[in-house]
Amino acid sequence: MRDLTSDTITEAVISTMQDTKDCRLAEILESLVRHVHAFVRDVGLTEEEWARGVDFLTRTGRMCTPTRQEFILLSDVLGVTMLVDALSNRRPAEATQNSVLGPFFRDDRPQRPDAADISGGLPGTPLFFEGRVVDREGAPVAGAAVDVWHSDAEGRYDVDVPGRVDPAMRALLRTDETGHFGFRSIRPSSYPIPGDGTVGEYMNATGRSLMRPAHVHLLIEASGFQRVTTMLFPSDDPHLDSDPVFGVKESLVASYDTYEADDGPCRGLTDVPYTALRHTFVLEPLSAH
Ligand code: BEZ
Ligand code: FE
Repeated sequence: MRDLTSDTITEAVISTMQDTKDCRLAEILESLVRHVHAFVRDVGLTEEEWARGVDFLTRTGRMCTPTRQEFILLSDVLGVTMLVDALSNRRPAEATQNSVLGPFFRDDRPQRPDAADISGGLPGTPLFFEGRVVDREGAPVAGAAVDVWHSDAEGRYDVDVPGRVDPAMRALLRTDETGHFGFRSIRPSSYPIPGDGTVGEYMNATGRSLMRPAHVHLLIEASGFQRVTTMLFPSDDPHLDSDPVFGVKESLVASYDTYEADDGPCRGLTDVPYTALRHTFVLEPLSAH
């Protein structure tokens, strides 16, 4: 292994890994080396560009803390998160599709009863959410654990609201015997993904928008079924076709119907105009995975 050239170095590197005991690891590493070398050749990467790339990745790592994961955000904006999800969770069109989990899930969320107000007293258009969880045949899935979380009317999560430490606009709910779950909150708004790090530099350099369309996140788990990590977007959101993390799917675009206080399915429950959102979530059995 001496006098390697740009023509021979790829095979030489791969040959050094031939004693890798874990077959899957060997497969991944060989492909990684082939693709990275091919990329370097393809663009004719210069030493200066290589150093810039190393600096970018170094600074990406330095941004990471227990509450800020810049590498996952980078994976999100490069479409890698949704690509891995698409390969891992192929579901028939009738089943509820996944989207990104995002960085704002908290496992210290409170468990709340049906129809609870989870707004934490924050101002905004009242939102009444009614969900149903069913299986492929339409039979109710009782006892499913449903996590919900969303931003406020200004696009901020509870963790971003100055001075707020208590969880708000998030809850763990359970479906009843009819598969129903529901809550009351405030209508979420669109918001930018964090742009003050290396991902922001990349988005700026490529002229991309940081704005995510508004959404309510849901994570649904029920015994015997595939876990669903998803979100519902309002059909009138202007950012649906430029989501920076590629999480929008047509089946997740929903009608956030708005009514006057004395009209619609929740008339009398509030004295200001409100939004009602109803959706049925269809779970796939684990065996179909
Ligand atoms: C979110 O929807 O919470 C989110 C997803 C990916 C990156 C940033 C935020
Ligand atoms: Fe979000």
